[in-house]
Amino acid sequence: MSESWDDYADGWDSNEAVILYCQKAHESLLNNVDLEGRKVLDFGCGTGLLTERISNQASSVVAIDPSKKMISVLKGKHLNNVHAINSELTQELIDNDQVLRSGFDIIVASSALAFVSDYQETLKLLKLLLRKGGFLVQWDWLKEREEPGIGFSEELIELALEQAGFSKYSTSVPFSLEGSDGSMKVVMGIAENA
Ligand SMILES: C[S@@+](CC[C@H](N)C(=O)[O-])C[C@H]1O[C@@H](n2cnc3c(N)ncnc32)[C@H](O)[C@@H]1O
Repeated sequence: MSESWDDYADGWDSNEAVILYCQKAHESLLNNVDLEGRKVLDFGCGTGLLTERISNQASSVVAIDPSKKMISVLKGKHLNNVHAINSELTQELIDNDQVLRSGFDIIVASSALAFVSDYQETLKLLKLLLRKGGFLVQWDWLKEREEPGIGFSEELIELALEQAGFSKYSTSVPFSLEGSDGSMKVVMGIAENA
């Protein structure tokens, strides 16, 4: 795999596996939360495949990603209720960005949290951005602790959510995708800022 997500930006939106992952993540999101009139943060939004679907129902979406080229593809879509931020999420960014500081009803992270350098710390920052009663929803490849590769077990997600200060959360395996190595399961974590 390339060192930089920029290298994937051009072909991302035409990758059938990526499109299917996004479609199924969106379906599982709609099965669990109501997007109507909500302010949403799409963390690790990439080219905005999920951002675009969500923007059709939500009142507004803020989409953040550190990859300049991924964000450039998203900006090229000219979605009128989407605000794109090309940056890592840091405390300093939150302190200086009024759009982020005003908070979100729903935060989604589709195949993004497995790629951050500090999962636990990122969850704490995301919790700061969640309004009371808001939901954080993440999807990642399901991976048991001893298995190689990128992803999380249900237990690891639940432990990290608990340690980030969430008291109400659940995990499930809402879908799987067929790959060259067989069926790959996707784990979904949902936490409420109760
Ligand atoms: C597998 S892609 C998923 C993109 C998008 N969510 C989607 O479903 O199409 C992973 C994304 O995570 C982003 N990413 C990597 N490190 C990140 C970080 N520290 N914070 C936020 N996003 C990050 C990458 O730039 C990339 O766009």
